[in-house]
Amino acid sequence: MFKQLPAAKTDPILAVSQLFRADTREDKTDLGVGVYKNEAGITPVMRAVKAAEQKLVDTQDSKVYTAMTGDPAFLDAMTDLLLGDSVAPARIAAAAATGGTGSVRLAMELIRKANPEATVWISAPTWPNHNAIAEVVGLSWQPYRYYNAETGGVDRAGMMEDLAQAKAGDVILLHGCCHNPTGADLTMDGWRDMADFLKSRNLVPFLDTAYQGFGLGLEEDAQGVRHLCTTLDHVIISASAAKNFGLYRERAGLTLVICPEDEKPLVQGTLAAINRASVSFPPDHGARIVSTILTDDALRADWEAELTEMRDRINGLRRALADALRYTCDSDRFGYLADQRGMFSLLGGTPEQIERLRNEFGVYIVGGGRLNMAGLTPRNIPLVARAVAQVL
Ligand code: LMR
Repeated sequence: MFKQLPAAKTDPILAVSQLFRADTREDKTDLGVGVYKNEAGITPVMRAVKAAEQKLVDTQDSKVYTAMTGDPAFLDAMTDLLLGDSVAPARIAAAAATGGTGSVRLAMELIRKANPEATVWISAPTWPNHNAIAEVVGLSWQPYRYYNAETGGVDRAGMMEDLAQAKAGDVILLHGCCHNPTGADLTMDGWRDMADFLKSRNLVPFLDTAYQGFGLGLEEDAQGVRHLCTTLDHVIISASAAKNFGLYRERAGLTLVICPEDEKPLVQGTLAAINRASVSFPPDHGARIVSTILTDDALRADWEAELTEMRDRINGLRRALADALRYTCDSDRFGYLADQRGMFSLLGGTPEQIERLRNEFGVYIVGGGRLNMAGLTPRNIPLVARAVAQVL
């Protein structure tokens, strides 16, 4: 029976983690999968998360099922974190999902049900699972140009030229902040222009927001998303608490749909039905940690403080790597690294060069040249800079 199966495609990000684990050398540097790491190379459980877990152990008196769309307290707290009071609750349908990935899957299944003819326009490059999920769900997709490798910024002209080919009703997938893998985000003017363009062409934005708080700050990173939500009738959002709460394995994500009030019951019911037919009830432990933190002033303040420390550390590492590369290469070719946002940037490089970085220097980055800044430390930066200077 299973002989007919086509071989599964390997995921380019998770393949790097496997190679890294299999490498027996002591001196190896993992700049692959997007997880935050501290100076000791550890992905810590955040202080507020520990405290919230303790509070749950002490007070939770049942593990009975939640609703098909998850715990309302989680949905409210996350919606407030992302949207503030920019959108009336009567326009927001919401469902918890199995992490950011599950929320993208839920959103794409919803799009497929609502408009099977829609093409999803996906930035090139993007997080590779976007394309994979569109294919699994049976949605057609098209790439649009996004990144200007010369400037390290967004290729606005190329992007708009490609998106001009979208037909009314198509879905445009945008990263809410901290674009993965380029680290290049739209400016506020760019978001305003994008909103006007989407409105005039009757296109629907689908915002994947997995890194709120890692760019400029929790509020700042939400401004583009909020602008689209206040300007347009329909916006689809996937959000994740994996990164900004360090809850990776707990799979706490949610899908939000901003729509006219009269469409909300239909959307809400469809989200519940899709969840029922896939997971019945989305995972609750991580979601409950998030709502516990966000509704407790002291825990929230401590969480925000630790997230600020993480963001500052990443931005410091960005500057340190850009400086080290300026010194080692005697050029400003990699100066853009200091200005980009979030965990990732692209170094470029051919598959052979990326393999050389691995084999000769033990430096692991993702195909296409994506590097996770949070994997850098003051100790490994000189080695990484030397490797990049020699190979790239
Ligand atoms: C990444 O981009 O490295 C993370 O989002 C992890 C993943 O699931 O790919």
